[in-house]
Amino acid sequence: MNFRSEGILENGGKIYTETMQRTPLYGEDIIRVRGKLYREWDPKRSKLSAAIRKNLRHFPINVNSSLLYLGASTGTTVSHISDICKNGRITAVEKAYEPFSKLLRLSESRANIFPILEDALKVEKYGHFIDKPEVLYQDIAQRNQAQIFNTVSSSFKSIEAGILIIKVRAVTSRKGNEEVLKNQLEIIENYKVKELVDLTPYSIANYLAVLS
Ligand SMILES: C[S@@+](CC[C@H](N)C(=O)[O-])C[C@H]1O[C@@H](n2cnc3c(N)ncnc32)[C@H](O)[C@@H]1O
Repeated sequence: MNFRSEGILENGGKIYTETMQRTPLYGEDIIRVRGKLYREWDPKRSKLSAAIRKNLRHFPINVNSSLLYLGASTGTTVSHISDICKNGRITAVEKAYEPFSKLLRLSESRANIFPILEDALKVEKYGHFIDKPEVLYQDIAQRNQAQIFNTVSSSFKSIEAGILIIKVRAVTSRKGNEEVLKNQLEIIENYKVKELVDLTPYSIANYLAVLS
């Protein structure tokens, strides 16, 4: 058993987040260790968990972090980040109504999740709701994913770190992974790559970049 960082437990090849949640959100196991509850964080369901499983060294999220999360979907990864940054906040942006309705339900039981139904690119429509985010997390499968990161990150001076999921196949299937990845990283403005993790085998042709 290994407490990797505050709120994250590794045990028996599995990753868990310390939680107050007593019932599973998506079928995950919940265990009790030394009187505290931990939720299993499935690397096949969450790319951030996959990166941790692949020995991510730089983890810019702590108990007090304030995040802007783009492409929140139903909130699987958001829920685990919410476990970790229990004194912080996550503004979670999702543009599709169906997953958003689940995200909204999740936020009703979590004081630190603030969901917004909007296109991430339209910062002018939601930016004023957000107070100084420190970390920008983006998981959006779109051809212009790197440009979305640039547009949003340049709208908030407070952002110190980024976690960007790069989905090679969303950009093109006509070029090799390495070439597309290199090109996507070259598009990123104002942030340097601190770490890059290939998420294979948990998530194919997807990479997680930590930017600062
Ligand atoms: C792969 S899913 C995200 C999974 C989620 N991050 C997780 O780990 O639990 C990508 C989500 O991005 C959303 N999305 C795509 N383009 C978007 C945009 N421009 N603005 C906001 N959300 C967007 C999609 O509707 C989809 O729900």
